Amino acid sequence: MIKAEQVNPETFTDAQWQQYYALRELLYSRYDDLFVPVPLDAFKESNSASIQKNRLAIYIIYHNDKMIGYLRYYLQAQNNMVQAIILEEYFSGKLETCLANALLKCMENKFHYKCIWRGTQPETISLIRKISDLKSNSAAWFRLNPANVSDAELLEFANPEIIAKHNLRTEFHKYVPDNLIENVAEVANILINDMKREDIHLGFNFTAEQLRDDIALNKKTGNATYHLMLFDEENKIIGMSVVAISAKLPQLVNQRITGVLSHGRGKGLAKWLKCEMLRKIKNDFTDVNQIKTECFTANEPMINLNKSLGFELYRTDYDYYITPECLREFLGLR
Ligand SMILES: CC(C)(COP(=O)(O)OP(=O)(O)OC[C@H]1O[C@@H](n2cnc3c(N)ncnc32)[C@H](O)[C@@H]1OP(=O)(O)O)[C@@H](O)C(=O)NCCC(=O)NCCS
Repeated sequence: MIKAEQVNPETFTDAQWQQYYALRELLYSRYDDLFVPVPLDAFKESNSASIQKNRLAIYIIYHNDKMIGYLRYYLQAQNNMVQAIILEEYFSGKLETCLANALLKCMENKFHYKCIWRGTQPETISLIRKISDLKSNSAAWFRLNPANVSDAELLEFANPEIIAKHNLRTEFHKYVPDNLIENVAEVANILINDMKREDIHLGFNFTAEQLRDDIALNKKTGNATYHLMLFDEENKIIGMSVVAISAKLPQLVNQRITGVLSHGRGKGLAKWLKCEMLRKIKNDFTDVNQIKTECFTANEPMINLNKSLGFELYRTDYDYYITPECLREFLGLR
């Protein structure tokens, strides 16, 4: 029998957390290219806290008593984003019905009239297409081995004179210091909402509280999110580039946002930030053999910038809008 059960941190046992963690690691290693792993205890703690703060709902999918996959529903910051990954061998009509029912229940509980579902494996992509034909954004995934970029090339664009010419200064931090948290969250939120994309109805909400929680988790796990920031003469951040490196997987860098506020654009500052970050990775993190990054396929400036640095496009994904109505129709409930 196939069933979906929602995780309640108060009753989910240590053995269940352990099974879920092992399954997630396995499925992530197959399907999520930007995975930044954390140790089991931190995983349990951060997932429980996110559920309790109403940022996340998790449904575990069981075949009889065996965990075979999960559906995660991210609220707030990621605009009701759904992620579901299941062991391929268990895919069937019954499993599709089970996933659609779990998602419908989740949306009804939250009174949501839409969510975004990005398929991460061929089987879920096929299911999403059966449920909805409402496309949202598509994402382009890039990768680069830093050894393939020459120092001379990086120095040409990461030239300190560019920064001096615009009366800017830089700071580089492993953990964003307390006095910068509000400013970093504010600028990050502006930049992510300013990303070029097909579907501008999709908004994001990144807060200082969330950044604080991320920093606390990173400090505990040894994972790092390095921030390279540009400050103007009034000591305000006008641009930044962020990368995440996991203590468990030090050879992979997840390049997150690089952005410059609108009044600073077109001066080579984003290129400076990305090249300088790349230079630091090459020189200071010698274990790294791959940098991966993702942006919307409509974000032509960032795609051009990535390509000009030698990043290779290796995958594209589509997000779809899911509504309770289309789930009900798929399930034959109306
Ligand atoms: C994308 C973004 C970072 C570019 O910042 P910028 O400081 O203006 O970029 P630069 O001046 O350093 O330009 C670097 C390269 O980007 C590309 N680029 C920049 N603006 C572009 C535009 N309007 N159209 C096409 N390509 C563009 C070019 O390849 C350019 O190199 P070139 O000048 O040698 O041709 C900026 O628009 C931004 O912050 N957007 C919002 C955040 C975002 O989308 N970040 C990416 C998601 S991770």
